[in-house]
Amino acid sequence: MLSAALVSLALVSGAFARAIKPRAVCADGTTVSNAACCAFIPVRDDLINDIFEGTCGENAHSTVRIAFHDAIGWSDFSDKGGGADGSMIAFGDIELAFEANAGIDEIVEDLQPFALAHGISFGDVIQFGSSVALSLCPGAPLVQTFVGRANATEPAVDGTVPDPFNPVDMILARMLDAGFQPEEVIALLASHTIAAQDEIEPAIERSPFDSTPALFDNQVFLEVLLQGTAFPGNGSHEGEVESPLPGEFRLQSDRDLARDPRTACTWQSFALDHDTMAQKFSAAMTKLSLLGQFQDQLVDCTEIIPQAPPSSRSQAFFPAGKTFDDLELTACDNAFPTTLLTQEGTTTSVARVPPQ
Ligand code: HEM
Repeated sequence: MLSAALVSLALVSGAFARAIKPRAVCADGTTVSNAACCAFIPVRDDLINDIFEGTCGENAHSTVRIAFHDAIGWSDFSDKGGGADGSMIAFGDIELAFEANAGIDEIVEDLQPFALAHGISFGDVIQFGSSVALSLCPGAPLVQTFVGRANATEPAVDGTVPDPFNPVDMILARMLDAGFQPEEVIALLASHTIAAQDEIEPAIERSPFDSTPALFDNQVFLEVLLQGTAFPGNGSHEGEVESPLPGEFRLQSDRDLARDPRTACTWQSFALDHDTMAQKFSAAMTKLSLLGQFQDQLVDCTEIIPQAPPSSRSQAFFPAGKTFDDLELTACDNAFPTTLLTQEGTTTSVARVPPQ
């Protein structure tokens, strides 16, 4: 009887010991759950100061973009690459030549020497870097962030990154092949609220996808729903229907996903609910960052990622001169309200994202 009690006590205390994680105190005095996270504190600080220059600007945006392009080199069904493994940097001579990766070379030029100098893997600098980048964008959620990826052993194959001129069918099929449902694709596209283009129309480089590219608000979901106008430039895509806001660039894929029956209701719901958008984005980003990785072999260092400040805008608004009547809506279970406010003043051109 006594020995049975001792055995069960030992079992209980064993389970208890496992439940209490070992804690470590880092050189700067921060207490962390796993000592491996201490090495990432200076990595975090140097990313913020040296690469992102303390802002949700071009380099922070590009780091979130490379987090996608690197990780999506993955398939649940066939060998398309190692997922979130840093192959975009390790095999940059191959992957940076893929058309869909145009422009990624610039952030690779920053992150490659940075990772080598800090002794961390390319997969970690990309995915940890993306979470740190988001922490500079007001309104962004905290993303559960793991470190400890090994360096890539093979490049991803060409064609894993969706192209903005692909039909919706093709984009959704590619994303499903990597494990993402249509709702998760739209959640990931919240990233386009901190985004601009350089490569599709180089003449208007750094033209943003919404009017507030330094905020992780839900403005992109509303503005892409506005009825478009003919593309004003003389580039190769002349004649396409584009953003009606001067200076703003609309991707064909965003426009189509916002109107496709499979995705339009999720898209519209995010235009109305920043918090749900941010929470679903966060979950999808963690999933993305673990493609090709075994979570139990990595270390969760989320506790050293700063929480982004709240956005000054909690609700999407119509840019000056636009109203509910300018929206192209799909009929969904939740009717789109007519109550969103219009920004005061007259229409002004959306400013380009400053270069870094
Ligand atoms: C559905 C598929 C997607 C397509 C077709 C697409 C396409 C594009 C294109 C064409 C650009 C402009 C690149 C340039 O010209 O410089 C861009 C920018 C960007 N994309 Fe996507 N994207 C997709 C999904 C995603 C996802 C899932 C993420 C992140 C989770 C993401 C994050 C970004 C960011 C942050 C930028 C801005 C980069 C910068 O301003 O430097 N995109 N995307």
